[in-house]
Parts: sequence; structure tokens; C-alpha cells
Amino acid sequence: MLAGMVPSTTAVLISLATLAAASVESPWLSPKPPMGFNNWSRFQCALNESLFTQTADAMLSRGLLAAGYDRLNLDDCWALHSRAADGSLQWDPVKFPHGIPWLSDYLKQRGFKLGIYGDSGNKTCGGYPGSLGYEALDAKTFSDWGVDFLKLDACNMPSTTGAKYDESTYAPIFENWHNVLIALPTPLVFSESAPAYFSREANLSDWHRVMSWVPAYGELARHSADIVNFATTGGGGSAWESVMYNYGVNTMLARYQRAGFVNDPDFLIPDHPGLTMDEKRSQVALWASLGAPLIISAWIPGLSEDEMDLLTNTRIIAVDQDTLGLQATLVSQDGEWDVLTRSLSGGERLLTILNRGESMSSHQVDLERVGLSSADNCTYSVQELWGGGISQATGHVEVGHVPAHGTAMLKIASDDTTCMTTIPTGMVFNTPSGNCLTNNGLGLLTVSPCNAADGQVWQVHPDGSLNTLSHKTECLTNAGNQSLSLSTCEPGVAAQQWVSHVSGNLVSLISGECLTIGGAGAGRRNVPTLAVCLDEMNEQIFGLPSGVNIVS
Ligand SMILES: *[C@@H]1O[C@H](CO)[C@@H](O)[C@H](O)[C@H]1NC(C)=O
Ligand SMILES: *[C@@H]1O[C@H](CO)[C@@H](O)[C@H](O)[C@H]1NC(C)=O
Ligand SMILES: *[C@@H]1O[C@H](CO)[C@@H](O)[C@H](O)[C@H]1NC(C)=O
Ligand SMILES: *[C@@H]1O[C@H](CO)[C@@H](O)[C@H](O)[C@H]1NC(C)=O
Ligand SMILES: *[C@@H]1O[C@H](CO)[C@@H](O)[C@H](O)[C@H]1NC(C)=O
Ligand SMILES: *[C@@H]1O[C@H](CO)[C@@H](O)[C@H](O)[C@H]1NC(C)=O
Repeated sequence: MLAGMVPSTTAVLISLATLAAASVESPWLSPKPPMGFNNWSRFQCALNESLFTQTADAMLSRGLLAAGYDRLNLDDCWALHSRAADGSLQWDPVKFPHGIPWLSDYLKQRGFKLGIYGDSGNKTCGGYPGSLGYEALDAKTFSDWGVDFLKLDACNMPSTTGAKYDESTYAPIFENWHNVLIALPTPLVFSESAPAYFSREANLSDWHRVMSWVPAYGELARHSADIVNFATTGGGGSAWESVMYNYGVNTMLARYQRAGFVNDPDFLIPDHPGLTMDEKRSQVALWASLGAPLIISAWIPGLSEDEMDLLTNTRIIAVDQDTLGLQATLVSQDGEWDVLTRSLSGGERLLTILNRGESMSSHQVDLERVGLSSADNCTYSVQELWGGGISQATGHVEVGHVPAHGTAMLKIASDDTTCMTTIPTGMVFNTPSGNCLTNNGLGLLTVSPCNAADGQVWQVHPDGSLNTLSHKTECLTNAGNQSLSLSTCEPGVAAQQWVSHVSGNLVSLISGECLTIGGAGAGRRNVPTLAVCLDEMNEQIFGLPSGVNIVS
């Protein structure tokens, strides 16, 4: 439900349950986004004991553990190709001569935790034994070995429909895993790769269905493509596109994230030769703004001082680890600049500005776009988070010299609580198409390519009403007969109240219908209408600004 919405007398059945905490029984398992190391993107199957001990030693001596990176996770290829006589998984004794329990102890003695990789199907993606039918045994084995984090992949899953990936078989298998893991004396943190298998379809119904259950079963959702890997590209030119792709998918999923459950856009790749230093910094800045896991896949002993500095910046890490657990959402996007914001636990606002363009440039953002006040009598202190410098701002903030593909991060605060009263503000966009709900200035609503205009920046008020910054007195209104209008805002009018669901549906309080792209008739594809809410239909899925209350 939108924050503090005025109860309506309209007899509409809407679930007012608040969202269950992450992994219902265990919101405490991973209250903050995990930080650490994984072998995959950098080394794939060339992992072994010495890689992990050397990495741990380097993480300790180079200050990564002190900065919070306390996990080392094995990826695929750690096992033998066959199970033992009693059915249990076995580590490869050539790669791990002292065994995995020994490695786990080695890491624990130095302050780290060990994570492992498995697969919910009958083989891992690399062709090693899968855990289908062996869930309880494998979970006990991992637990006995001293492992406390499981990344569960989902290759080679059964299908009842004949489809390569059949959503209906994934849900019960992952639910069973959840039940098995939570019953362990020390439950494992559960990273679920299930969504990734459904993310590339044009029709995203199944992907969103998977996203609807992963938060109840685990702590992380690996939602889309693997980040570009070091070996197969040889440092080719597609690394930045890979970073932008995974970041972009993450921005479609903000409504699912909360303290204890994070969307996972995959590894940080700070030694990838296909990235410039500014691009490496941007990856860290964006991941921190999203509140994403910070799992490094790199040769840690070989990282440069600049790379170490960007991974250990305490101000940036504090944003990532912020206890509210929110994900920053898009204020605006125009192809050149992405602007994102969210609240932080100290009451501050985060402002993140990504320059997607090809040249260094400056950029100005009105403080109203960050959900704050642009009035003359509100002066804010603005901290630039890479360097830590503080300046004052009234009305707007301006960042200068943002390099091509660089990202500025600012923390905005004021001692005046009136000035810190925040209105959730930003894009309302149809996430599958990437198009923005737009007040076109002529009294007409469209769903159009995002261009960062004031007519695409929406304020979402406590009573559930929405208006754009371009026309603050025109509210999104259910005009009846399945149509929408921009009508004069009147507080408490039910036809102007909207309820945001975790499914992505934006529901009219008065009719229970869903905001839907595409009116009847040729040429009306970009005109939003109201229609009966269907189950996770592309045309009815919208992303809203961070801070809007979401109902299940
Ligand atoms: C362990 O893996 C690393 C990284 O792939 C490799 O350089 C090293 O030779 C391996 N060591 C052994 C003993 O196999
Ligand atoms: C780690 O990655 C390297 C490089 O691809 C690979 O050779 C090695 O087998 C991987 N080791 C493990 C344990 O995954
Ligand atoms: C393993 O999964 C594949 C793909 O679903 C299937 O073809 C094969 O029959 C399965 N094997 C077993 C032993 O279940
Ligand atoms: C998308 O797939 C769902 C089934 O998962 C189906 O009900 C829906 O009609 C499909 N949408 C389109 C536009 O084909
Ligand atoms: C700023 O001025 C406006 C208009 O006079 C007033 O309503 C508001 O309370 C003032 N805000 C602060 C923080 O003083
Ligand atoms: C509802 O809209 C349809 C299509 O525009 C129109 O034919 C019909 O007359 C309208 N009904 C009412 C009650 O306005």
C-alpha cells in the first residue's frame, strides 16, 4: 500500500498485508548485502585450495576483510564427477588436497566464512553432480564441512511442459531447499539462481513469477545474466555493456528488495582489462547504490592500488551496507544520464549520477527530484562520497567533471527536519519495455521513451495520489470506463488513489483495475488504460520510486 494511504469506503478487495520479511523464518541470516570473493568470473573452473588460501591471505593483508569483505565462495567445478558410495558429494582431492573442511577452518581462523556452489537439477552447469533428490544429504554435507552460504544454480532441471525451463518445477524444488536449509542447526545463507533462467524472454511473466517466490525462500536472487567473464572474453570490449546490462535489470526489481533480501546483479570485476578505471568505479558505485552484494571476482593479490582504493572506500561501502536495505530507484533516464536516489538510515538522501555518455560533463539535479525541497529556505549539506568533501546546496546540486561512464555519489542532509521531509519521487516505468509514464503537457498520458523531462518525474504522496513535477496539480485519475485522465488533484478522492503491489501492478483503489499499456485500436499502443489485473503480464508491470509502500 502507498504510505499512509487514507482508508477508503470503496468495497474493493485489496490485500493490505505488509511484505513478509526476507526468507520468512530467517530475516536475520543476511541482514546486509554479502561482501566477499568468488572464483567464477575471473577463474571459472580453475579453482583450487591455493587460489583460495592465497586470496584469503591477500584479502586480510590488503585490508579487504577489514573493509567488510568476509566471504570466500567456491563456484562450480569444486566436486568430483561422481558421488561417494553413501551418495554424498565429494570434493576433488587434486584441487583441494587438504579437503574442504580444512579450507573452511583455514578461513574461519582468519575471520572469513566459506560459501559453496550447488545445482538444483540433476547436473551442475559444468556437468558435475546436481542435487536433485539429494537435497537433505547435500545440505547436511555442506553444513558438516563448515560452509555457511549456498549459491544454488538451476541448470538441468526437470520439465513437465517440455519447455527448456519450466517455472512450475522450479518453485517446489526451491521451496524444498528452503525447508531443508532452514532446518539445519545453522541455516545456510541461500543465494537462488532460479530467476536468471527466465530473464531473457520477451514475455517476462515466468521471470516475475519466480521473483514472486524467491524472497520467501532465500536471501539473494541472481536475477539475470552472468557478468562477463575474464577468461572467455580475454578482456574484450563488452565488459561495460555487461555491467550496464546487469545494472539495468536490477533497476527493474527494486520493489522486491528489503533488509535481508537482495537482488544480485553478479560479481564486481575490478581487474577486468575491458573496463576503464572510471568504469570500475562506476560498477562499485552503482552496486553500492543498489544495495547489492559486493562479491569480487578477481585475482586479489594482483589488484592495483587504485583498484584497492575503489573497493575499500568506507563511505561507499557504508551506503551499500545501509541498514534500511533499500535499493536506489531511477529518478530519470535519458540515454546520457541516469539519476537515482533512495533514503539512508541516518535520514539522509543518496543521489547517484551516472554519465553514460562518451565525454566528461557536468550535470545539475533539482533537489525536488531527489524528493527534497527546492525552496530557498532549505540549505543542505552535500557530501561527495568518493572523496568525502562537503559543500552546501540550495535548490539544486551540480556535479562537475563526471567522466565518461563515471558515477558521482552524493549524500544529502539537513538539520532542519522540515527540509528532510521526503516525497518518493522518480520514474514510473513499464519495466519490460523500459518506457516511462508521461504527462505530455497537453493533458494526455502516454507511456513513452524516457527522456528525463519533468513530465516523467512523479511524486507519490502519502494518500496514494501521483502527479508529475511538470504539472503538480494534475493527478493520475481513474476516469471510469477503463480510462485514465489527468484531473485536478483533490485530497482523499478515491479515484486518485493507487496501490503498488510487489507483482509490479499499480492498482486503482476505486475499481481494483490495473494500469495497463496499450488502449484498444491502432495507434494507441502507447496510451495507458485500466484493465482487469492478470497474473504478471508485461503490460501491467511498473517500477515506482523507492519509498513507496508496497503490498504483497
Ligand atoms: C591453483 O589455481 C591457480 C589459479 O587458477 C593456478 O594458478 C595454480 O597453478 C593452481 N595450483 C595448483 C596447485 O593446481
Ligand atoms: C578458479 O578459476 C580458475 C581460472 O579459470 C580456474 O582455472 C579454477 O579451476 C577455478 N578454481 C575453482 C576452484 O573454481
Ligand atoms: C537429467 O536432466 C535431463 C534434462 O532435464 C534429462 O534429460 C535427464 O533424463 C535427467 N537425468 C536423470 C537421471 O534424471
Ligand atoms: C505471456 O505468458 C503468459 C503465460 O506465462 C501468458 O498468459 C500471456 O498471455 C503471455 N503474454 C503474451 C503477450 O503472449
Ligand atoms: C520555508 O518557507 C515556506 C514558505 O514561507 C514555509 O512554508 C516553510 O515552512 C519554510 N521552511 C522552513 C524549513 O523554514
Ligand atoms: C466507454 O467507452 C467506449 C469506448 O470508447 C464507448 O463506446 C462507451 O460509450 C463508453 N461508455 C460510457 C458509459 O462512457
